[in-house]
Amino acid sequence: MSSVFLAGAGPGNPDLLTVKALRLLQTASVILHDSLVSEEILALANPAAQLIDVGKRCGRHSATQEQICALLVQEAQTSEGIVLRLKGGDPMIFGRATEEMQALDAAGIAYEIVPGITAALAASASLKHSLTQRLVSRAVHFVAGHAADGSIPGHDFAALAQKGGTLAVYMGAQNFGGFAAHLVEAGLDPATPALAIENVSRPDERTISGTAGSLPSALRAAGDGPVLILVGDALAARQPALLLAEACA
Ligand SMILES: C[S@@+](CC[C@H](N)C(=O)[O-])C[C@H]1O[C@@H](n2cnc3c(N)ncnc32)[C@H](O)[C@@H]1O
Repeated sequence: MSSVFLAGAGPGNPDLLTVKALRLLQTASVILHDSLVSEEILALANPAAQLIDVGKRCGRHSATQEQICALLVQEAQTSEGIVLRLKGGDPMIFGRATEEMQALDAAGIAYEIVPGITAALAASASLKHSLTQRLVSRAVHFVAGHAADGSIPGHDFAALAQKGGTLAVYMGAQNFGGFAAHLVEAGLDPATPALAIENVSRPDERTISGTAGSLPSALRAAGDGPVLILVGDALAARQPALLLAEACA
């Protein structure tokens, strides 16, 4: 039997892999990877490894989650050495890890989880905006921008619209017009700063800046890379330290 790992590959830049994820990449005999795992990271894989692309892509034929779970179990049962299930970002954040752990549990296969840097945290670092900020943002919500059927999820928008927090919206670029409208209806000021960051940490990273009101139309300029949206007062242009000190006095 093999050793099985569900690991995060981070947002795409190989420098943001954990040491453990890199070691697993270099020694695994089978790697089942998502479409969000970058080519630069896959290039670091053990040259003898069998690479299996199980990425789900919008509008293109791809493996179902059930097929991915079945394949993972099959590889775990039949392969020698390390079987690495490699996911973009962190495997436990919008990564369907639960289904894969359930499938492994049901088959009696032991596994280990290796965390990765999730897109929101990589975006925060790239943008040099802390998601929490004293007196401004005391909470961070990681939220899905679309439901399984592609519609806007039934979040408690009144709770999300409250001042004093930052929203990190995953998978939100397609629906952000409707998503932002729900937030504004629920009381969010449309002038609240909002940023979209595409291809975080990769050479083609780019940022689209706006407000909750203006970002939906500005997002038309986004390409087809993954996009993370951040909304909240913590994303406002930074005040000079002197002004901030006065505000805190
Ligand atoms: C299915 S979720 C997977 C999230 C991933 N497990 C993580 O922790 O970052 C896919 C969404 O994550 C975000 N995302 C992942 N990687 C990204 C990147 N490099 N740049 C921008 N957004 C990214 C986007 O919102 C994308 O639609």
